[in-house]
Amino acid sequence: MNILITGGAGYIGSVLTEALAAEGHKPIVLDNLSQGHRGAVIPEAVLVAADIDNREPLNDIFQSYSIEAVMHLAASTSVANSMVEPGKFFTNNVGSGIVLLECMLRHGVKKLIFSSTAAVYGQPEESPVTEDSPTRPLSPYGESKLMFEGLLPWYDQTQQLSSVSFRFFNVAGASHRFGPDRHPETNLIPNIIKVALGQAEFIPIFGNDYDTKDGTCIRDYIHVLDIAQAHILALDYLGRKEGNHLFNLGNGKGYSVKEVITAARKVTGAPIPVKILPRRPGDPANLVASSGVATRELGWTPQHPRIENIIESSWRWSQEHPDGYANPETACSGSKDARK
Ligand code: UFG
Repeated sequence: MNILITGGAGYIGSVLTEALAAEGHKPIVLDNLSQGHRGAVIPEAVLVAADIDNREPLNDIFQSYSIEAVMHLAASTSVANSMVEPGKFFTNNVGSGIVLLECMLRHGVKKLIFSSTAAVYGQPEESPVTEDSPTRPLSPYGESKLMFEGLLPWYDQTQQLSSVSFRFFNVAGASHRFGPDRHPETNLIPNIIKVALGQAEFIPIFGNDYDTKDGTCIRDYIHVLDIAQAHILALDYLGRKEGNHLFNLGNGKGYSVKEVITAARKVTGAPIPVKILPRRPGDPANLVASSGVATRELGWTPQHPRIENIIESSWRWSQEHPDGYANPETACSGSKDARK
């Protein structure tokens, strides 16, 4: 199947593109390379370097390839940045997405898989969180993702555009070829790895006075390979089920920041010094998924649930790519820009 992946040169998109090609699909990547990397796109994929709201290249893609489904990952994703520049998040994550939806409809493409986030829940009252839990985002980032999710039932009802929205919990880990390389990096596990590699002196712990077992925040870390697998299953699902669907994607097990650091010490053998800093604004204390609906409906079960395995894959990738994609010697031999 020819599949358009927006944001396909980014962290999750690169692993997803690789997995789709391995399943025999033809990936067409649209990415403006603001956070993505040419070297993160497999040579078998087509890469179009453009913004998703740039109508001409977008139209070209739908005209040139018989796109059957779209996986929409392109987004502004930094929670912290969204607290400073909310307009950018509503423009990129809602406005540009509408341009994409309208273009899909003009070309008769009616299957969409959308990357949403656990940030739509804010600080949930219950744990684990189900898809029915109240949504109260604590940031413009979470709000922008929730707004786009909210459009999709209308596109289903009025235009018969079927969709799956995935609420990712804390995506981490790497495939053999692709891993995280973001600037600035804000996520816990890649930053711990930098300390283990000697690229940073200590890992800051943002708050140790939360109402949790050891005072640090609890999150549900899910392997990026399991996220890719969910997309492959969702493609199949949309082939047999119309409508608009919503699934949490997490392991259902929470780890505190301190527990993740302890696991990383074990995996890397490095001491990983820490420094306790004040709480980071917008961080909920506890965010753990119930993914029972994805298991029941899609047949999805995480294959890499152990935190040590998730960290180990990231550690291996970072050791092999200490400069991320900056060094062409260690990055994947990149694909060419192409329209045809
Ligand atoms: N943390 C630290 N030190 C660091 C980095 C993070 O203590 O250097 C803490 C954070 O305060 C938080 C936990 O580690 O308590 C996890 O933080 P991350 O930045 O790794 O992840 P978040 O939970 O903040 O956010 C991630 C994605 C969001 C997504 C969210 C959904 O980055 O895009 O998961 O759960 F919305």
